[in-house]
Amino acid sequence: MSHATTPRPMRATASGPLKGAVEVPGDKSISHRALIFGLLAVGETRVSGLLEGEDVLRTADAARALGATVEHLAPGEWRVRGMGVGTLLEPRGVLDFGNAGTGSRLMMGVVGGHPIRATFDGDASLRKRPMGRILDPLKKMGVEVMDCAEGNRLPLTIRGARDALPITYETPVPSAQIKSAILFAGLNAPGETTVIENEASRDHTEKLLAFFGAEVEVSKHGAHGRKIVLKGQPSLGPRPIIVPADPSSAAFPIVAALITPGSDIIVKSVMMNPLRVGLLITLQEMGADIVELERREEGGETVADLRVRHSALKGVDVPAERAPSMIDEYPVLAVAAAFAMGETRMNGLQELRVKESDRLAAVAAGLAVNGVEHQVMGDDLIVSGNGRAAKGGGNVETHMDHRIAMSFLVMGLASERPVGVDDVTFIATSFPDFLPLMARLGGKIS
Ligand code: S3P
Repeated sequence: MSHATTPRPMRATASGPLKGAVEVPGDKSISHRALIFGLLAVGETRVSGLLEGEDVLRTADAARALGATVEHLAPGEWRVRGMGVGTLLEPRGVLDFGNAGTGSRLMMGVVGGHPIRATFDGDASLRKRPMGRILDPLKKMGVEVMDCAEGNRLPLTIRGARDALPITYETPVPSAQIKSAILFAGLNAPGETTVIENEASRDHTEKLLAFFGAEVEVSKHGAHGRKIVLKGQPSLGPRPIIVPADPSSAAFPIVAALITPGSDIIVKSVMMNPLRVGLLITLQEMGADIVELERREEGGETVADLRVRHSALKGVDVPAERAPSMIDEYPVLAVAAAFAMGETRMNGLQELRVKESDRLAAVAAGLAVNGVEHQVMGDDLIVSGNGRAAKGGGNVETHMDHRIAMSFLVMGLASERPVGVDDVTFIATSFPDFLPLMARLGGKIS
């Protein structure tokens, strides 16, 4: 099991106006998928702008263990040589995904479509996360679970299907990880694999499947859902992938600028995929001064430079159906809400309980130690601000969760008293440059 590092506590103190233009690293979801598509395509896939965070590097190791040649050419530039769907090798050792739910779950789907056996493991956080949601559909496709920790958790060993069965599956929760695992397994199944989701989740897998030459049809399902039909056993041709900047990482400097008086920053080339912009919509409803400077297409996604200025925010009601498009952004939205005037109600946060930590509990505890009035009612979080700086002064437990650490450091930049976090090491899973980037903007974190 990985990540037995010594915790590194840090604290953020009230900072002067944040100023400057920054670019956050490549999108984590697309980076994992870029490596997986490189593994499954025949030939050489070039990737630019890959997020070189620990989570993604674990996926690179797993792709190597399954038979791909994965080379780091220059910062952000990678080359993957794969041999095609159906050709994966049985890995010799354990596939250790560290902290990464996405890497582990997507790779379970990849392995599940091949007649090979593999053991999946991760750190203490990943070992707590539910894997039954992935194993259930994979079992229907013919995957055998040979060994598994109690409650369908890691470490677990599966043997993929010799002839995977194409299935039709309605996901029990909106989850791009469940959807993608099924589609990856379905790549090596004869016939059509269908995934139905009642709330649309991020669509990077479907878009990349089409881009790499698979036959995939996406249609509407109900008011907010989608139906995805994939024709199995395609030959995937390699394509160059440009990874756009991660909106989930951009969220941190954006909220930092909104709550820190006098701030005026630009965050460059942020991916504006409609299934990822729930936080921006919510912040704009709260009165945030966020202006798109230039909208353009890059590598199959719309990106924009965003100018963000300090703003007087007001509380809003965030509808539950918006959750899939901002699922990773609630911790930092809770921080913004702490500085807003009035009540911000975030509805339907049940999925937050099974992320890198129980984020609903971790956010509530972080707000409590920093004197922010809030309430958890069932699966909803209500934060009450008075339009002034949060009190701060608390020490936040991060529970091996990068987004809890970054969110509360952002809070400390604009709070009356410093905000400490017990460990910043996990920030390296998704945003290795977070600390220097925030320092360049004028944030005081030490
Ligand atoms: C991801 C999907 C989301 C998200 C995670 C990345 C992906 O998880 O929280 O950080 O890349 O597919 P769920 O699918 O469990 O909602």
